[in-house]
Amino acid sequence: MSKDNAVKIRFHSGENIPLEMHKVRVVQKLHLPPIERRLEALHEGGFNTFRLTTQDVFLDMLTDSGTNAMSDMQLSAMMHADDAYAGSQSFFRLQRAAEEVLKKKYFLPVHQGRAAENVLAKAYIKKKGDLIPMNYHFTTALAHITQYGGRIVELLYDEAYNIASSHPFKGNMQVEKLEAVIRAHGRDNIPFIRMEASTNLIGGQPFSLQNLRDVRQIADRYGLRVVLDASLLGENAWLILQREPAFAHATMAEVIAEITGLADIVYFSARKLSSSRGGGICTNDLTIYRELEALIPLFEGFLTYGGISVREIEAMAVGLYETLDETMICQSPQFIAYLVHALTAKGVPMVTPPGVLGAHVDAMSMCAHIPQTQYPAGALAAAFYLISGVRGMERGSISNQRDEDGNETYADMELLRLAIPRRVFTLSQIKYVEDRLVWLYENRRRIGGLKFVYEPPVLRFFMGGLAPVSDWPEQLIAQFKADFGDSR
Ligand SMILES: Cc1ncc(COP(=O)(O)O)c(C=O)c1O
Repeated sequence: MSKDNAVKIRFHSGENIPLEMHKVRVVQKLHLPPIERRLEALHEGGFNTFRLTTQDVFLDMLTDSGTNAMSDMQLSAMMHADDAYAGSQSFFRLQRAAEEVLKKKYFLPVHQGRAAENVLAKAYIKKKGDLIPMNYHFTTALAHITQYGGRIVELLYDEAYNIASSHPFKGNMQVEKLEAVIRAHGRDNIPFIRMEASTNLIGGQPFSLQNLRDVRQIADRYGLRVVLDASLLGENAWLILQREPAFAHATMAEVIAEITGLADIVYFSARKLSSSRGGGICTNDLTIYRELEALIPLFEGFLTYGGISVREIEAMAVGLYETLDETMICQSPQFIAYLVHALTAKGVPMVTPPGVLGAHVDAMSMCAHIPQTQYPAGALAAAFYLISGVRGMERGSISNQRDEDGNETYADMELLRLAIPRRVFTLSQIKYVEDRLVWLYENRRRIGGLKFVYEPPVLRFFMGGLAPVSDWPEQLIAQFKADFGDSR
């Protein structure tokens, strides 16, 4: 296959500028509320950026989930959706896309990624203490595994925890440890091995194709299944093309096919993978398909819609094909790299190398004066919203769940994630983010900690309520006004 959808454009100035290979045809107006309103909004939302309403947000960098820009082709496909409870033609178009792109012939639709995680945990975690080895957890994957009595073990290499690194594949699984874990725990107590493409919680860091081949080899040695979380598969495959020399001349289609071919089960959030809504589970193994099949009508909907609207199913099918287009898939990681390099050059501590889905600020370093008990990443997310109107997401201890005895489990990393969904923001908006973050870095000692005032028992980061431990937000506003005058 040719690489005719990969385009290299150099600037005469020598600057490395990520040039958009799309034009904007539909726009949404934005507002930047005054800083006093932003403080009120923080108090109303418990200093938790999930609880802000978009009316109070200027640039929404909470997530790329369900917020990637759709293409004109996706929107037009939505118009010819076939409404039917059973046997919809839209479903068969999606099934064909999954077969052609992911190379799996059996497809089970689910309403989003975590629904797939629920189905897989319910089907395969049979007894308390069953262990799932993985490169790293994702919040919802962990919650579903523990809900059914399972446990996890994370097997990243030590380098993955090194925030400022040049290692190209920090999402790799330590295969020597994998084998030791299987031997120590017993293969019968391991329902599957989970590999997450572009490991979300450590800064969107990819695994290499060689690493996945090595994991597969060990899985085969012990007769274990490999489950791939493919929510961020497109970007992981693109980074393999950029960073793994053996694949420098391969195509997206080839790399994606090899990755999915190494997994027995592929599941994904379509909110991420195909810039639509929905999710899916795919396999080539009829036994696996039969084991999961009955759970879809029970939790999701009939087998040809799985809780997804037929319009979204059409968008999902087109989105899967578009994942193979390098000019589309490179846009978010290139903007991320641009922002990470610009911020690093000004001293702001960032996760490197730049990964996917967003730029990640190291709050543990930037807010070293805030103890982990006062949630530095949550505090930084609140402070950054306050001074910029930009909504990021805490990915640190607030996003962790308490252990079985109710004790806090502090996160390995305290990160502020600034998501850069595909084809949503312009470069001047990215420059605004850079400008305000550099200012906040220079004023970082004015940021104070947070404490919980309302803590839900499950996935507390979504709806939890926090409060500042002092009047630091007011002090930050005073400095902002002194430096920026009447600018918002
Ligand atoms: C790696 C990964 N897995 C699973 C999910 C869950 O998907 P969803 O939000 O569609 O439930 C996400 C969502 O962000 C994710 O990033």
